[in-house]
Amino acid sequence: MASLLKTESLSKSFGALAAVAGVSLSIEEGSLHSIIGPNGAGKTTLFNLLTGTFPPTSGEIFLGNQRITGTPAHQVAHLGLARSYQRTTVFPAFSLLDNVWTAAFATRRDWKGLLFKKSSSYDDVQERARQALGDVGLAEKQNHLAREISHGEQRQLELAIALAAAPRVLLLDEPAAGLSPEETRRMVELVRSLKGRYTIVLIEHKMDIIMRVSDRISVMHFGRLIAEGTPAEIQANADVRRAYLGGMAA
Ligand SMILES: Nc1ncnc2c1ncn2[C@@H]1O[C@H](COP(=O)(O)OP(=O)(O)OP(=O)(O)O)[C@@H](O)[C@H]1O
Ligand SMILES: [Mg+2]
Repeated sequence: MASLLKTESLSKSFGALAAVAGVSLSIEEGSLHSIIGPNGAGKTTLFNLLTGTFPPTSGEIFLGNQRITGTPAHQVAHLGLARSYQRTTVFPAFSLLDNVWTAAFATRRDWKGLLFKKSSSYDDVQERARQALGDVGLAEKQNHLAREISHGEQRQLELAIALAAAPRVLLLDEPAAGLSPEETRRMVELVRSLKGRYTIVLIEHKMDIIMRVSDRISVMHFGRLIAEGTPAEIQANADVRRAYLGGMAA
């Protein structure tokens, strides 16, 4: 299959710190590709580069055939990269539907990726928002305020917000962070249900989740990619065990 998202020697330095260092990564269309690595390895910074939160120090990013290096975040969202954050970013005083509607509206485009013109697209936006809430199992709570739902449901809502943008690539930064075992189980099922429908890049610390859902895994350590492979290959990789699994989650 073709690669949908690709980086070439991507680097980002903060002063003397090389947070991301020469990362060349290829994400296949339709796959679930996980990024793992110890705290501070550069995973979230990689997402920040991919989504245009800040430009790389050097290197390139391609989405499909298009070079998107240096494209600002709001434009990247229009091109079809959607993310959920490591920390929750919902509007507490908005209803669930309004939260998702806002995201759907902000990134509305027709099937060619062109911007809609004015109000003719409102029905479509509404439909996409409802569908995104349905996809994460929150359809029945669409009129609840975001602050009224549980923490686990807020993370589901976050996912719906990302889905409402009708992304080509979905970037998930620790979607199960801070969730109870039961909420985690639900989130894993949710991510699995999205597999195949979206190209997904997942950052996650919980190894059991990673090993169960990933098609491929890339391992970061001090800003660099030190390994890539299937879950079985990564589990058997001695470098990875030393750098990561050995110390943290073996
Ligand atoms: N905006 C910033 N300014 C300065 N340093 C930063 C910035 N963002 C990240 N860093 C540093 O870059 C390194 C990589 O951080 P990053 O958040 O990407 O790690 P991570 O792999 O996501 O870690 P975690 O698993 O804890 O979320 C860390 O040393 C961090 O302190
Ligand atoms: Mg992080």
